[in-house]
Amino acid sequence: MSQHLLLLLVILAISPIPGAFQDSALSPTQEEPEDLDCGRPEPSARIVGGSDSQPGTWPWQVSLHHGGGHICGGSLIAPSWVLSAAHCFVTNGTLEPAAEWSAVLGVHSQDGPLDGAHVRAVAAILVPDNYSSVERGADVALLRLASPARLGPSVRPVCLPRASHRFAHGTACWATGWGDVQEEDPLPLPWVLQEVELRLLGEAACQCLYSRPGPFNLTFQLLPGMLCAGYPEGRRDTCQGDSGGPLVCEEGGRWFQAGITSFGFGCGRRNRPGVFTAVAPYEAWIREQVSGSDPGPAFPTQPPEAQSGLPEPMNENCTIALPECGKTRRPGAWPWEAQVMVPGSRPCYGALVSESWVLAPASCFPGHISSDRQPSDLDYWRVQLPSRPRAEQVARLVPHENASWDDASNLALLQLRAPVNLSAAPRPVCLPHPEHYFLPGSRCRLARWGRGEPAPGASSLLEAELLSAWWCHCLYGRQGASVPPPGEPPQALCPAYQEEEEEGSCWNYSHWSLLCREEGTWFLAGIRDFPSDCLRPRVFYPLQTHGPWISHVTRGAYLEDQLAWDWGPEGEETEAKTCPPHTENGACGLRPEPALMGVLWPWLAEVHVAGERVCAGILVAPGWVLAATHCVLRPGSTTVPYIEVYLGRGGASPLPQSHQVSRLVISIRLPRHLGLRPPLALLELSSRVEPSPSALPICLHPGGTPLGASCWVLGWKDPQDRVPVAAAVSILTPRLCHCLYQGLLPPGTLCVLYAEGQEDRCEVTSAPPLLCQTEGGSWVLVGMAVRGSRELFAATGPEEAWISQTVGEAPFLPPSGFPHWLTEGSDLCPPDMARASGSPRAALFLLLLTPLIQG
Ligand code: ARG
Repeated sequence: MSQHLLLLLVILAISPIPGAFQDSALSPTQEEPEDLDCGRPEPSARIVGGSDSQPGTWPWQVSLHHGGGHICGGSLIAPSWVLSAAHCFVTNGTLEPAAEWSAVLGVHSQDGPLDGAHVRAVAAILVPDNYSSVERGADVALLRLASPARLGPSVRPVCLPRASHRFAHGTACWATGWGDVQEEDPLPLPWVLQEVELRLLGEAACQCLYSRPGPFNLTFQLLPGMLCAGYPEGRRDTCQGDSGGPLVCEEGGRWFQAGITSFGFGCGRRNRPGVFTAVAPYEAWIREQVSGSDPGPAFPTQPPEAQSGLPEPMNENCTIALPECGKTRRPGAWPWEAQVMVPGSRPCYGALVSESWVLAPASCFPGHISSDRQPSDLDYWRVQLPSRPRAEQVARLVPHENASWDDASNLALLQLRAPVNLSAAPRPVCLPHPEHYFLPGSRCRLARWGRGEPAPGASSLLEAELLSAWWCHCLYGRQGASVPPPGEPPQALCPAYQEEEEEGSCWNYSHWSLLCREEGTWFLAGIRDFPSDCLRPRVFYPLQTHGPWISHVTRGAYLEDQLAWDWGPEGEETEAKTCPPHTENGACGLRPEPALMGVLWPWLAEVHVAGERVCAGILVAPGWVLAATHCVLRPGSTTVPYIEVYLGRGGASPLPQSHQVSRLVISIRLPRHLGLRPPLALLELSSRVEPSPSALPICLHPGGTPLGASCWVLGWKDPQDRVPVAAAVSILTPRLCHCLYQGLLPPGTLCVLYAEGQEDRCEVTSAPPLLCQTEGGSWVLVGMAVRGSRELFAATGPEEAWISQTVGEAPFLPPSGFPHWLTEGSDLCPPDMARASGSPRAALFLLLLTPLIQG
């Protein structure tokens, strides 16, 4: 005992600090006596992308159990010692009690009782002092077993490399474990030990891969003592649950443990190989911990033939893998388009997602959606893929379990009898991970899906730009619902088409998938397979929520990381936002900040009358614009002039033409006002304008000004440029308004007071509207300017009945607040008011001095 103590002191005195990755001063210069045979499995006979191992192939593999189940892997290095990873045993900086752990040795399948297996209690867990977290390195642990393992054909130690041992880059090594077979996808029963061949990557090559932004736009700095193994293209890797397990390489007929499974970014992702703790630098530390045990671990010298021919680490080239999915030479010629032919029905379209699997709507296979049995005529099913001489045969149909009742899950996977060779065509489409965030403005296209018919018109019609989640959700979602922030799967994806709906071309019964492009790579972003009137589909179900199901079934569909991270001004908004309440007729008055695609006022219309004057109109329903009568009809004239209406121009910077919408006015409707010429006119448009961020109806309010609203007059400073400007106003009480303009104003008139200095922000000639933003965030139209006035407005509230009857789907919000327009017979004015003569500011001053006011 005292001898051991002395030895320990000597070691401390001469050994380098643990974790300083140098050759240990303890490494014997001469061959040590080898009393333990290591790294030689009995001659016989997951790991991501791996396969079942044969019993006895990896006799040093240990399963470390905690709370009754497998948590981590380990390797037997001596009868009483198991090597593993520190992070398996350290939670929140504290080492878990050894007594809670047990080591299971010599197991192959973990299905069923392990009584017969070789189980050992853990007596001690040792972790380097400098271990803090996986990314900081030193992720190594030693477990001392309470009693030595019985060595036999299925329980044998692995060899450890000395500090001077060098493993050649590119060497094919093997990782083993019972970990997940894909991200979030546990190894299925019977839990057979998985093995995967991984290539050692040089430090420079690995750092080069990790320096390229990957998932979540992250990069990573590797540290000395870390080692990478895997492939730039990913697909084969260790995963959750493999940690602590060995990465072994064969040299001179023995297996040496080069690494300990430590961490990675996701599993099997492109340019993100697994990171291992290099074992060689820990020779001194290991020797120190196990000193005195007999027999201890074996550190055989590296066989000379393995030492020669090591490539120079410096001239390693940096091979970055590009996506293998989602490439096409020409948009529209989709190399993943799969035509599924089932006897007795029309062909159905799906998409190739891997070498062996096709994704298609489950509705292509009615009758098989909710049955567990395979279709009896499966032998006759065929899948035609681009550039394949013959149609493929089908081995299996796997419908989504919710396919029969949930439209968003109307999906099925078809396995081909034989995998196809991937090339330019066929080539699989890329699938998004659940956390994928397709940026607003992403370029997308429609592609055939299910029993889709060819699109009418030119293929350019299929181009679309993605709307922001906020718009999509608030236009088509549920009222008051909160919009998931970026990184959470969206509930819907909305394309905004480049061109307006073509007259006469009907898109009825067309089912589509939505492909969106990032950095030239196409992702299957959404599906839509029920008809939406006679229109192109406006809302798609996002596919990303199905990524885990698809990879679980296919084990190898091409899920690809997000490639575009240019968030733009929208990007900072990572909070969940709530949509303003909708009306019975859907979304109205939405105007998110910051403005999208440059549109500031999506309901502001330019009304061009007879080619001679232009005034402001407001979109109040998909086919109707409200304007001031004096603008659209000249006094005395009885003929309806030629009027054109433009939408999507209400921004500081003009939108691309493709987002502008123009319509002809086919009729002008006026309310019946006895004797008086009504100030408001409704213009009927030649066809509806589908709601979009560039053209969306405003909300209307029946009860005057909604409580707590802030109000603005919206007009043009320069009628030539027509750049909208908003001037802040407050709406005067009816009494004040009446008293100011005593006897002069018709009922239904509103008076406003401009905020300091805002009075002449916009021109009266544009007949500017008066808008208020409610506390709920919706914008409402309150009135339109009365001819030649800046302060007087014809209120829309009193015309609710006329507007509702004429328009049919006018977006009136529920009443709140109180009317601010003049009603007949309000008479009590302070005596001096008349003398204030039309100057609201002077009148207000007077009123503040007179204590009898309240309307
Ligand atoms: N940290 C994981 C575990 O505790 C191992 C992850 C390995 N990941 C990878 N992509 N190689 O099991």
